[in-house]
Amino acid sequence: MTIRFLFLFLALNVLTSYASIYSQTYVIHMDKTKIKALDLSLENENHNEPTSNPEILYVYENVISGFSVKLSKNHLESLKKVDGFLSATQDELLTLHTTHSPHFLGLEQGIGLWSSQNLVSDVIIGVIDTGIWPEHPSFRNSGVPPIPSRWKGICQTGTKFSSSKCNRKLIGAGAFFKGYEAIAGRINETLDYRSPRDSQGHGTHTSSTAAGNLIKGADFLGLAKGTASGMRYTGRIAAYKACYQLGCASADILAAIEQAVTDGVDVLSLSLGGTSRPYYNDNIAIAAFGAIQKGVFVSCSAGNSGPFHSTVSNIAPWMMTVAASYTDRSFPTEIQLGNGQIFTGASLYSGKKTTTKNLPLVYDETAGGKGARFCTKGSLSPTLIKGKIVICDKGIISRVAKGEQVKLGGGAGMILANNENEGEELFADPHVLPATSLGAIGATAVRNYSKVSRNATVMIKFEGAVYENPAPVMAAFSSRGPSAIGPDIIKPDVTAPGVNILAAWPPNISPTQLKSDKRSVQFNIISGTSMSCPHVTGLAALIKSLHDDWSPSAIKSALMTTAYNRNNRNSSISDTGSSVATPFALGSGHVDPEKASDPGLIYDIAAEDYLKYLCSLNYNSTQMALFSGGNFTCPGDSEFHTGDLNYPSFAVALSVSKKSFATSRRTVTNVGDSKSTYAVKVNEPKWVSVVVEPAILNFVKVGEKLSYKVSFRAIGDGTKSNFSFGYLEWVSVKYSVRSPIAVTWVQ
Ligand SMILES: *[C@@H]1O[C@H](CO)[C@@H](O)[C@H](O)[C@H]1NC(C)=O
Ligand SMILES: *[C@@H]1O[C@H](CO)[C@@H](O)[C@H](O)[C@H]1NC(C)=O
Ligand SMILES: *[C@@H]1O[C@H](CO)[C@@H](O)[C@H](O)[C@H]1NC(C)=O
Ligand SMILES: *[C@@H]1O[C@H](CO)[C@@H](O)[C@H](O)[C@H]1NC(C)=O
Ligand SMILES: *[C@@H]1O[C@H](CO)[C@@H](O)[C@H](O)[C@H]1NC(C)=O
Ligand SMILES: *[C@@H]1O[C@H](CO)[C@@H](O)[C@H](O)[C@H]1NC(C)=O
Ligand SMILES: *[C@@H]1O[C@H](CO)[C@@H](O)[C@H](O)[C@H]1NC(C)=O
Repeated sequence: MTIRFLFLFLALNVLTSYASIYSQTYVIHMDKTKIKALDLSLENENHNEPTSNPEILYVYENVISGFSVKLSKNHLESLKKVDGFLSATQDELLTLHTTHSPHFLGLEQGIGLWSSQNLVSDVIIGVIDTGIWPEHPSFRNSGVPPIPSRWKGICQTGTKFSSSKCNRKLIGAGAFFKGYEAIAGRINETLDYRSPRDSQGHGTHTSSTAAGNLIKGADFLGLAKGTASGMRYTGRIAAYKACYQLGCASADILAAIEQAVTDGVDVLSLSLGGTSRPYYNDNIAIAAFGAIQKGVFVSCSAGNSGPFHSTVSNIAPWMMTVAASYTDRSFPTEIQLGNGQIFTGASLYSGKKTTTKNLPLVYDETAGGKGARFCTKGSLSPTLIKGKIVICDKGIISRVAKGEQVKLGGGAGMILANNENEGEELFADPHVLPATSLGAIGATAVRNYSKVSRNATVMIKFEGAVYENPAPVMAAFSSRGPSAIGPDIIKPDVTAPGVNILAAWPPNISPTQLKSDKRSVQFNIISGTSMSCPHVTGLAALIKSLHDDWSPSAIKSALMTTAYNRNNRNSSISDTGSSVATPFALGSGHVDPEKASDPGLIYDIAAEDYLKYLCSLNYNSTQMALFSGGNFTCPGDSEFHTGDLNYPSFAVALSVSKKSFATSRRTVTNVGDSKSTYAVKVNEPKWVSVVVEPAILNFVKVGEKLSYKVSFRAIGDGTKSNFSFGYLEWVSVKYSVRSPIAVTWVQ
């Protein structure tokens, strides 16, 4: 195919050799079935202007069909006229969704999923991220058997990375930066590596969360001592670097997905994303569809744009979209004000002293000039803050950078104050001086106290790691549904640990990533859906190794239908501000690996079913060809409804005024006991009547498929809320298979 595309461009060059020099990178999708014709018609063209040749960055031919290219607007116009052209999207930079968690998830060494016989089979996990720090103990060869022969990947050399950096654990590494350099200019090799080596820590952290070795005695600056381990700690890792200082170019991400699938990964992890968009405009969704067709499970972060609704990204139904929640571990501080008020904050500060003295408190004009509220560079007055504790509002510069400014000015400590939108969300950060975060309620009181009282004082106590807090609790930052693009699918799909996660870190990058911070750590504690995604990646790998014949959709179903909705106090999982978390925050619930390994029933979805689903969204033939490769005819109108996609959860739109109703069909496959009987149990959403037919499913053998129909009918006098939630559960003696229901009220 490469050669054919070259012909194409030679031809284009002749057509538009005087085109404007100004050019941009585009990702071009082509109809696979028409590339042959293209080849023939252009083969004999000539060219004579090598300088204005469009520059091909990558050719994609495995998971998608097309290429990325730097070209001018005129070139693009000519290209659009070529038979087989499907779409062009301008390349863009996407963003990263920046040892206790295995135990919190119920994984114990030697037992169940982590028993030795369940860890022997080989699973290869591909992580598309900022690269990897190959020397880290998390990626060391530790009695791992030889690399499986099906592996086709390589260990790419580059800046400070030789092919000997890979081993039986880190079996492959690649770096993709042509797209990035086309947008951002050549990578400055004193700041980043033109190689798979990680210059940001993010990729090292996510890779080790998915499949890092089991390491005893891991800690962060003496905090959170314990065993650090990936979810699938015997899994093989392949690192595909597509993210650099300014972000991740789509062209590079696509090249990485192509390479990973070609190399033979079983599971792909993407802790990055952009804003959600229709699937036909979403390059990652299109490539992920190619990947799942080859049997590769794709796990993605939901994004960090919560708690506002309809912020969730990576929303295609064939991707696993992972939200973030707290585990039961926290790093609390106690903030004692001179007026007797006491508040709880959070911090990873770990100095010799665990309590500050009772010190004067300053804020805004009592701390400096313009910008002192935010503690920006140069805004704080050393005379005003020396030996005092400074309140800094969040915003403008990073949380840890504010601490750096206070320290530079001679301040003795810092209170990092949330604004109203951030509510009571507490980030524990590795501050360079005694400092703590503080929720919005406490922050209002502290600011007020410092303004009202002339000699306000405060004392901060650092309490280290505390366990067994009520958990899980949704993180406010975790992006929420409903999906703005596909309201017929509940997104996110599940939640997993994503707050204060301890995992591997490059020793040459300080935990705060500040230049002035000279600390070196083996492990760092960070938060984000970037951190929850690789948990699910690793769990999918665990399930894959137990059930090698399961499709990506079957694995996804198992993780979703067994997810739990009650916390460790047996009450509903709460959202920020103590309200109950809805499926638009946590999807089907919090992942439960042991249960997911034996789910009883699965909702399987074949590639063709996803295509029928896209047909039901009225995709035209161009849009369909992006997914089908140009070789699929949509069924007739009446055959498949959007609500019939065999998804393990239900999202329906109903109208009260019209007393409307909707039906969905589902088919479940028995993967539990051969003879088993399931009865349906429904928790009806408010103002909705739900009828399931049949209400009993009798299976007589493993692998048997049975179908059922659900009818949702609007009842009652109307509703003031926009959504109603419930669930449908198939219960047998041994299993319960749960699907949340989300009803969106429309006019
Ligand atoms: C199109 O689909 C048919 C039937 O599934 C198959 O035989 C054929 O090889 C496909 N053609 C292409 C170009 O993929
Ligand atoms: C690369 O970054 C270093 C450090 O910031 C800077 O000193 C140098 O000028 C940069 N080089 C280029 C070519 O931009
Ligand atoms: C601010 O402090 C004063 C004096 O302590 C108190 O009367 C007032 O209610 C406080 N305001 C807020 C918003 O907390
Ligand atoms: C300031 O604080 C000191 C010690 O806590 C106290 O004795 C004094 O009365 C306070 N002054 C004012 C003006 O509040
Ligand atoms: C948890 O709460 C549910 C609902 O209130 C109750 O049915 C169940 O028995 C409780 N479980 C335990 C272990 O207390
Ligand atoms: C499909 O829709 C897109 C976007 O509206 C349009 O550009 C394209 O030409 C359409 N294709 C067909 C075959 O109608
Ligand atoms: C329902 O949605 C509308 C429009 O988005 C919004 O203005 C309103 O506040 C919502 N109502 C509730 C109860 O959330």
